[in-house]
Amino acid sequence: MDIQDRLADRAKDKSPSAIRELLAYMKIDGMISLGGGYPNPDTFAFERVRIEFKDGQKIEIDGEELASASQYGPSDAHSTLKQEIQQWHSFKDNVELRDDQIVVLNGSQEGLFIMAYLFANHDDRLVFSEPIYPGTLAAFRSFTKNFIAVPLDSHGMQTEILEQKLETIEMTGEVLPKFIYTIPNGHNPGGVALSLSRRKHMLDIAERYDLFILEDDPYQLLKLDKSPQLPTIQSLDKSRKRVVRLDSFSKIFAPGLRIGYVSGPADIMRQFVLFKQSANLHTSTFIQVILLRYLKAAGHQKFMELIKKNCESYRINRDAMVVAAKKHLIPEVKFNIPGEGMFIWFELPKQCNCKRMIEEQCEELKVLLVPGDAFSSQNGCKNFMRASFSMVSPEDIDEGMRRFGAMIKNELHR
Ligand SMILES: Cc1ncc(COP(=O)(O)O)c(C=O)c1O
Repeated sequence: MDIQDRLADRAKDKSPSAIRELLAYMKIDGMISLGGGYPNPDTFAFERVRIEFKDGQKIEIDGEELASASQYGPSDAHSTLKQEIQQWHSFKDNVELRDDQIVVLNGSQEGLFIMAYLFANHDDRLVFSEPIYPGTLAAFRSFTKNFIAVPLDSHGMQTEILEQKLETIEMTGEVLPKFIYTIPNGHNPGGVALSLSRRKHMLDIAERYDLFILEDDPYQLLKLDKSPQLPTIQSLDKSRKRVVRLDSFSKIFAPGLRIGYVSGPADIMRQFVLFKQSANLHTSTFIQVILLRYLKAAGHQKFMELIKKNCESYRINRDAMVVAAKKHLIPEVKFNIPGEGMFIWFELPKQCNCKRMIEEQCEELKVLLVPGDAFSSQNGCKNFMRASFSMVSPEDIDEGMRRFGAMIKNELHR
């Protein structure tokens, strides 16, 4: 497939920044560059940066390293961080990425925006499961409002329904969607994982209809039970042509740093680079260097162990929420027990209007959840609520669920 034919009009024929493309020559030994517009490092503010990590690692960044961390950098990635990420990706997903298959981003949110920017013309269709993470909806809606919303069940997006929808589109001669968006693990807000058979089915569908899959996976490593990690959709795609994958360090390192990466076919990654050149030049070099130094100091095995240790507190909280929900909520309220992530998605009796419940009762009862309509592209999910167990103590979870139970009873008796 020729990527140029698929790009949205706005992304077609983008020419690379002439200056940015010259950067490669600056690395040549002995080069005297009169070309760059870089400020002189002698003028930079920092002398030394010392960071102590909670695991006891201490790092210092100074001299040349600090100068280059404070300087402009390449649009795709800091070159040493890129190597580190290639090894990390291979370690956790068993997928080898070439140099031209990775771009470091300002969090995966930037990747959601760039994908829709690159591929969605005003009337183009995009596929996702409903409920949907509102950040995705906001990013996609910047470019199109034409969506195919596929329902979610306890095994993730119902790919059989997706297949039927695409068959109908094909039969009626309508235009096929540009890509399928999915959150394969710890779905936000659904709290479910896409089963292995559906991951494979989704790939088959993408192959049959010649579509891309956007695999957005920030909760992959936030595992709450001992079940084995399911293979990523990217790893199942032996052609390495179908899947654009977003990895994020927000949930496993620190979200405020705004760092993640996209990986996928080189021709699409090139488009991501062209976008970065025109939008923000590159993700902060400073932040990339901090992540690099941490990954190097900790090592991948130790980093993974730390993530697992942190997941233990999420597991305790999830269990507390499940126990409290069973204790305090009427039995008609349905929910899944998430195996990853930070959310439980509650389905209330049909007559409940969750937005109204929050508006009318949250101040008095002092309990806050997110009403389901925030996660709908079509003004649905009105009788759903998302609860997060990531930041609350088990005691507060119990009390919060008690108040939520009272809120539901009030709504049913109004
Ligand atoms: C499903 C999903 N995708 C993307 C993001 C954005 O993550 P990041 O901090 O990497 O931009 C979030 C954040 O909550 C999310 O839940």
